[in-house]
Amino acid sequence: METEYLTVDPGKPDPEVIKKAGKVLRRGGLVAFPTETVYGLGGDALNMSAAGRIYAAKGRPSDNPLIVHIADTAHLYPLVKEVPEGAVALARAYWPGPLTMIFKKTTLVPYATSGGLETVAVRMPSHPVARALIEAGGGYIAAPSANSSGRPSPTRADHVKADLDGRIDMILDGGEVNIGLESTIVDFTEEIPVILRPGYINKAMLEEILGEVRMDPGLSSENENVRPKAPGMRYRHYAPKAPLTVVEGAAEEVAAFIRKKASEAEEAGQKAGIICAEEHRSLYEGLEIVSAGHLENDEEIALGLYGILRDFDEASVDRIWSEAFDSPGLGDAIMNRLLKAAGHQVITV
Ligand code: TXA
Ligand code: MG
Repeated sequence: METEYLTVDPGKPDPEVIKKAGKVLRRGGLVAFPTETVYGLGGDALNMSAAGRIYAAKGRPSDNPLIVHIADTAHLYPLVKEVPEGAVALARAYWPGPLTMIFKKTTLVPYATSGGLETVAVRMPSHPVARALIEAGGGYIAAPSANSSGRPSPTRADHVKADLDGRIDMILDGGEVNIGLESTIVDFTEEIPVILRPGYINKAMLEEILGEVRMDPGLSSENENVRPKAPGMRYRHYAPKAPLTVVEGAAEEVAAFIRKKASEAEEAGQKAGIICAEEHRSLYEGLEIVSAGHLENDEEIALGLYGILRDFDEASVDRIWSEAFDSPGLGDAIMNRLLKAAGHQVITV
């Protein structure tokens, strides 16, 4: 299949282009498009065969459910059995935006979309291209991140192209996304809402609206025998090809450790990759590093992370070491993805 590649203005997409892409979706085809979090691979969420095509294009296990994207709050109600009060309040506060909520599904949602579950994940993105496309495509668009299964999520259209060219109908290139990490997922099918995937809308922001919120115990590195509730959080994911180790501790000691490991690797003829904070650049003098951005700007770190992991693949790096990037705002989301990319390989020095 030939993939049509079209450029769109991220703020004000050309209605003709959107119309064309909407037609592809309405006839069951697949269109990759930018959202504020990462690029999504869209297909008609109410069409079983479109959902099947999404799994095939990504090489994704078919028991890993898709998120249904809507552009209008009214479209939530036909999809779900009930909307708890807390979810109404969260939608009011953070929709449209980087928040996905999980509800008990109605029969309108095919099992192909829900991965066989009785629940459905719903998100209303804020990106103008996403919103226009969802409407043009019929209002209910299933969209996982537009990467091949297991690779880091795409934050630019060329990432999508690298993974899915020839496997989908169309790519809409709206430039770089805004956030760079996937949406926060909150499960409303239990008594107390549970965070299944941390994201830009952090725990404190959720607590402000909901009061009590729990973190899915399966997300913690310490609970390796507890399965995360979101099927997608169980797979090795966001992962670069080379093994990655996260090193925690005081900056000087972390740098000393990584320097030693990197020179050992290079002596053994391996190509080493190092990710560090911009502020720590001088601690690695003489070594090639990739700056993750400034520590006090966690949005910069979030936005760059997946691109850095992809660049290491391109550069055929053999081993990667990264500093840890904790922060009150996006720290949970960044460390969740980084630790998953590392397969929870963490060393504390
Ligand atoms: O930011 C995002 O959410 C992006 C953009 C494109 O909107 N989409 C995204 O989709 O990240 P995906 O498919 O890559 O990740 C969806 C995650 C998976 O971990 C999946 O297992 C989980 O959501 N999920 C979906 N439906 C669920 C359900 N009913 N119960 C539990 N987890 C669910
Ligand atoms: Mg994904």
